[in-house]
Amino acid sequence: MKISISGLYQTQFGELWDQSLEDLISKAANGCLKDSGITISQVQSVFIGNMLGGVNENKQHLSSLVSQLLKTQVPVTRVESACASGGMALRLAIQAINSGDIDNALVVGAEKMTDLSACDISKALMGAASAEERTADLTFPGLYALLARAYFHQFQASERDLAKVAVKNHFHATFNPKAQFRFPITADQVLSSTKVADPLKLLDCSPITDGAAAIFIATPKWLKAHHLKNSVYISGSAQAQDSLSLSHRTSLTSLSATKLAAHKAYAQAGITPKDIDLVEVHDCFTIAEILALEDLDIYPKGEAYAHINKKESYLGGKKPVNTSGGLKACGHPVAATGIKQVIEATLQLRQQAGNRQVKAPKVAVTQNIGGTGGTAIVHVLIR
Ligand code: COA
Repeated sequence: MKISISGLYQTQFGELWDQSLEDLISKAANGCLKDSGITISQVQSVFIGNMLGGVNENKQHLSSLVSQLLKTQVPVTRVESACASGGMALRLAIQAINSGDIDNALVVGAEKMTDLSACDISKALMGAASAEERTADLTFPGLYALLARAYFHQFQASERDLAKVAVKNHFHATFNPKAQFRFPITADQVLSSTKVADPLKLLDCSPITDGAAAIFIATPKWLKAHHLKNSVYISGSAQAQDSLSLSHRTSLTSLSATKLAAHKAYAQAGITPKDIDLVEVHDCFTIAEILALEDLDIYPKGEAYAHINKKESYLGGKKPVNTSGGLKACGHPVAATGIKQVIEATLQLRQQAGNRQVKAPKVAVTQNIGGTGGTAIVHVLIR
């Protein structure tokens, strides 16, 4: 498989009180078209990832809303799969291109979250969990706290090991002008921050964020015919599912949908984990980054935290992880995240990542999950 990534655009991530969902979608889409050097009239299909517009603002009919915003009558498909909505929108766009139905697609992920109170947004996000988990008054920090406890029990990791993930991702975000939190933190600050759901504290959590991201993808043939730039390819794109409830899982120390999607995506791209130069993973909570690195087979089970402690996943390390700052510090406007991860990987592969550039990378992997891993999407990008 070979799908070219041509244009990209990410809005600022953060508390954007002066921008609506519509503003964010328009800004990302138009920024991406400009970056690609094309006009909307050349786009054959649009995919829009969004989780919360319907729940938070009663904005349900996004296909038509996006048609109005972008002034296009080509098919617009709204995709929802919780925090994996962006990754899934991209995967469906790739499938549509691979089917031969279209030659190109504009893929946008957008979310407006900060207008709601903490209580209301937590409740809205819990729409991505199971009824039994909601009845137990769990929140996503609570669900990931359970995964952290299980991991501590099985592998003797500690709260300080989790804190190291947040320290690294905040450090990376200091180099990313689009990130929500551009300040460094220490492990002691993480450990002494407010407890949210024991053992997770404020600084173990991704924040509530507004933002949007967009990419324009096409067949290499279409780009060549239109004299457009073409240096990074998506060579693997896979998806897998798991139960909605954690209580239906056989393991709480592995999100097996990531494993299944990764194996498929690696096989499509003809790579092994050893070939990967950098990864953007779904660190909605610090424990999630550790699980992701093991489920992507980058480190053996129970060992990822020790490698993070050795600073291998820092910029300049053996295998940089979340050079964007990850969800933790770049921010997590849920449906924009899967697209933002691909943008960061593309910037790195094109060597356009500025002062957070990894040295001459060739292969990058992104992992985007929904809920507690009920959906997993993995993409492999190659320069
Ligand atoms: N990391 C770092 N700082 C954070 C933060 C985070 N995750 N969340 C909030 N802050 C900061 C705010 O900027 C604010 O700083 P200020 O006082 O200097 O302005 C301060 O902490 C308090 O912010 P507030 O908005 O009152 O926090 P909160 O208590 O309402 O929310 C969480 C904190 C962790 C509960 C919230 O960010 C959250 O629910 N995160 C998880 C989101 C989630 O579940 N996503 C889906 C994943 S599957």
